Amino acid sequence: MTASATTSMAPATLNAQLSGGAQVTPMDGPLGCTISGVDLSVMPDADMARVIREAFLAYKLIVFPDQELDEAALVRVSDLFGEPVVHHVGEYLDPEFPQIMRLSNNVVDGKPLGAPNNGIYWHSDQIFRERPMLATLLYGVRTPAKSGGDTLFSDMYAAFEALPVAMQTRLLSLKAVHSFVASYERNYIRARTLSAQEKADNPDVIHPVVRTHPETGRKSLFVDPDSVTEILGVSADESAELLAFLFAHIEDERFVYRHVWQQGDLAVWDNRCLMHSATSYDENSEVRLMFRTQTQGDRPV
Ligand code: OGA
Ligand code: MN
Repeated sequence: MTASATTSMAPATLNAQLSGGAQVTPMDGPLGCTISGVDLSVMPDADMARVIREAFLAYKLIVFPDQELDEAALVRVSDLFGEPVVHHVGEYLDPEFPQIMRLSNNVVDGKPLGAPNNGIYWHSDQIFRERPMLATLLYGVRTPAKSGGDTLFSDMYAAFEALPVAMQTRLLSLKAVHSFVASYERNYIRARTLSAQEKADNPDVIHPVVRTHPETGRKSLFVDPDSVTEILGVSADESAELLAFLFAHIEDERFVYRHVWQQGDLAVWDNRCLMHSATSYDENSEVRLMFRTQTQGDRPV
């Protein structure tokens, strides 16, 4: 697949390849599409799978509404987007399908049903790994009835392309340090603390500040306020100043789509070119239960 073929993919081109009432509709915003009329409890055929992959590269986020998926079906669908990776926070994994992590505020018999609200920071999943995640799939089993618990997505291709050329050139030569420990401590404040061994087992990693997407060839900003501790090769002041600028830039509403969840939505996004952030909700009056899987990505270059 070439960069131009995937990034300029018009919905009509994709829709012409679909049958059985399935339809790709771009979101009203800078990124994302809906694919409706497809039942993912049945494995998509080869044509459908190809359209889904093309839409994924072109739109970066796909929402499949009205899905009724059990755990086995969610794991099968995840395979379309790469090899599932079991989440390192083991407390909230599905006992039968460890590829699935549950997110929830619900507590049943004194036991949390899932990871409580976390990820309320702009981030790309597991960016602190040598090989960060390719895709994340999030399935809305129960979503807040009134409000809150939306997920924000920001387009890092667009964020990079919007920068002045001099800034782009400067960033192209820079690398950043990503810390598993810093990210864990920001996100899992209500979970147990990391042991010295776990910290030692998860050393910092270094990634380029601008990443080239391995499939589309497009460049995107690849620093997040969740895990980055510094930019290498510049003074501490310069690093802090540049990061503050970039972190404000990635939140710019020109690049952001807000997903308001409906029960039965399955969202899948490309962590190689998007950042995302959870948002809070009233955990006393609302119930949110999401099933989450993630797939293995490449080493960023
Ligand atoms: C995640 C995540 C966002 C949300 O699970 O990686 O960022 O809205 N979730 O739950
Ligand atoms: Mn996340």
